[in-house]
Amino acid sequence: MVWDHASKQAAVIDPVLDYDFKSGHTDTRSVDRLTAYLRDSGLQLAWILETHAHADHLSGAHYLRQQLGGRIAIGEHIREVQASFKKIYNLERGFLPDGSQFDHLFRDGESFMIGQTEARALLVPGHTPADMAYLVDGAAFVGDTLFMPDVGTARADFPGGDAHHLYRSIQRLLTLPPDTTLYVCHDYPPASRQPRWQSTVAEQRAHNIHVHEGISEEAFVAMRTARDVTLDMPTLILPSIQINVRAGQLPPPDDNGVAYLRIPLNTLARH
Ligand SMILES: [Fe+2]
Repeated sequence: MVWDHASKQAAVIDPVLDYDFKSGHTDTRSVDRLTAYLRDSGLQLAWILETHAHADHLSGAHYLRQQLGGRIAIGEHIREVQASFKKIYNLERGFLPDGSQFDHLFRDGESFMIGQTEARALLVPGHTPADMAYLVDGAAFVGDTLFMPDVGTARADFPGGDAHHLYRSIQRLLTLPPDTTLYVCHDYPPASRQPRWQSTVAEQRAHNIHVHEGISEEAFVAMRTARDVTLDMPTLILPSIQINVRAGQLPPPDDNGVAYLRIPLNTLARH
């Protein structure tokens, strides 16, 4: 979350709708904590910023907007992601892959205001074709690109992913000023340390195990490709993406009033 001190306008990045895979229940406790924090601090929610259609959690954007308003935004290339997953899930006719589920679609380099603070959306594709990073006042919310230096980088093998694009996107981020604070999308740390969420451009250039200075695009792509074939699909990829291409809204209910998720059998790559 970021906010502008003068106006008390806030932006939340990548809110989560909790989901219990075993029982099929969604739960709003994470968003409710955010909502309480915003209310208690007297902040007004201007933006709900999605970095991409996540594959490891359901988006809480729709529910958060119901609670506090604000505009849900994502990169304009979400349309490509929606089109490819509309096919994979065989979604209903009424689901249009035109981005209309979101309130705003960012172009690469687009500026926007959080109160009186200027922010900028940067296209950083590779993990998905639509990934965005958000730059605000010496900080960058980098989405799934760079992870913490000892973990490396995001995978690039989901539908529409591309390791070459990921390398170039990361190079874009690494040209930001060295003291820029980078907030990572998530952290699955090694057993030796607790989760962390921020680093700097300088730290990444010096120490990122996958893309520190001197690693060529070819070397990166070879490493990334070899590694990606060893990774299982995330547990929540199939539930997540069909919710997240709808900006966190559940699918329309069947005639019994119950909303269902779809599981395409024998369709997605196994790794
Ligand atoms: Fe992701």
